[in-house]
Parts: sequence; structure tokens; C-alpha cells
Amino acid sequence: MKEEMLMPRPVRDSQSEMAEIVLPNDANPLGALLGGRLMHWIDLAGAMAAHRHSRSYAVTASVDHIDFLVPVRVGDLVILRSSVNRVFQTSMEVGVKVFVENYIADTSQHVASAHLTFVAVDINRNRLKVAPVIPETAEQQRRYDDAGRRREIRRAELERRRKARR
Ligand SMILES: CC(C)(COP(=O)(O)OP(=O)(O)OC[C@H]1O[C@@H](n2cnc3c(N)ncnc32)[C@H](O)[C@@H]1OP(=O)(O)O)[C@@H](O)C(=O)NCCC(=O)NCCS
Repeated sequence: MKEEMLMPRPVRDSQSEMAEIVLPNDANPLGALLGGRLMHWIDLAGAMAAHRHSRSYAVTASVDHIDFLVPVRVGDLVILRSSVNRVFQTSMEVGVKVFVENYIADTSQHVASAHLTFVAVDINRNRLKVAPVIPETAEQQRRYDDAGRRREIRRAELERRRKARR
């Protein structure tokens, strides 16, 4: 691996934005966005940030729980913003925040947030070390610190489930 690949990079380099207009095929018979479709978009928006930061392929290792805070309807504009919160060795936590914009009323509402873990891999799916990420704002620093705490919780939960399977 080239040395420059492991040079620390600021969070802003990974910041990504994705926009979708909700179409009838994305919705249930009541015209509300399907939760599964939103989860798919969250995965894609998260992957964008992971790719941009790691400059490699990345697979989704896990998604923390998602709360759907407000309903989204056919015709709404959904905006997904993502960035890398923290890098560990081969994995990185990415945060995705979802908003619904009403372009007639010029309002924006928070729809959902999620934390995903991506693992960087090469074309043969061998894991790759990821460059550290540099938080530059107080908000980014808070997310960085919180990501460390969430990793401990995830590891404990993973271990508990592994033991339960034995
Ligand atoms: C994710 C995956 C690469 C982990 O590989 P593994 O051999 O189990 O690796 P390890 O247990 O040694 O963990 C490797 C890294 O992944 C992290 N990791 C593994 N499972 C995780 C999970 N469930 N949640 C968060 N992080 C996880 C570890 O913390 C470790 O991170 P680090 O290198 O930064 O310390 C592997 O399980 C995989 O390929 N899964 C399928 C991924 C996929 O196809 N996703 C698409 C959805 S189907």
C-alpha cells in the first residue's frame, strides 16, 4: 500500500450529500416512504463517505439502530448527509443524517440518523488499514469521542452474541 494512502485526512474530505425525490415505487399504499428504501439510501450515503475517506472498496459491517422520526411522503425531497466520524484499524464509523425538505414551504425536518461501520477491503476482500481522520470542529470532535464509546458497546454486544451462539 502506498504511504500517502495512510496520511491522516480531515473529516470534511469525506463529507457527502445525496438527494432523492420520493416516487410512488418508494412508498407503501398510503404514500409514505418505505423504511427499507430509506435504509438502502442510508447505506449508500454512508458508503460514499467511507469510499471518499479510505479511497478503497468498503463493505458494511453493521448498522446501529435507526429511529424514523417523521413520516416522509411521495414527492418529498430527501437529503442524506454523511461523513466519517472515526477510524479504528480497518474499520470506520460513518454517521448519516437524513432530512426531508419541503421546497414549497422552504422547511427542513430531521427524519433519521444512523451510525454505520464500514470495513475497507481490496478487490480480493482482504482487509486494509485506513488512514486516521482529523476532526476539525467541536461537533466533529464530539462525534469522534462518541464513536469511541459506541465501538466499545458494539464490541461487547458482538462478544455476547458470539458466546450465545456457542
Ligand atoms: C465485516 C467483515 C469484513 C469483518 O471481518 P472479520 O474477519 O469478521 O473481521 P474481524 O472480527 O477481525 O474485524 C475486522 C474489523 O471489523 C470490525 N467489525 C467486525 N464486525 C463488526 C460489526 N458487526 N460491527 C462493527 N464493526 C465490526 C472490527 O471491529 C474490526 O475493526 P478494526 O480493524 O478497525 O479494529 C466480515 O464480517 C464481512 O465481510 N462481512 C460481510 C460484509 C458484507 O458483505 N456486507 C454487505 C451487507 S450483506
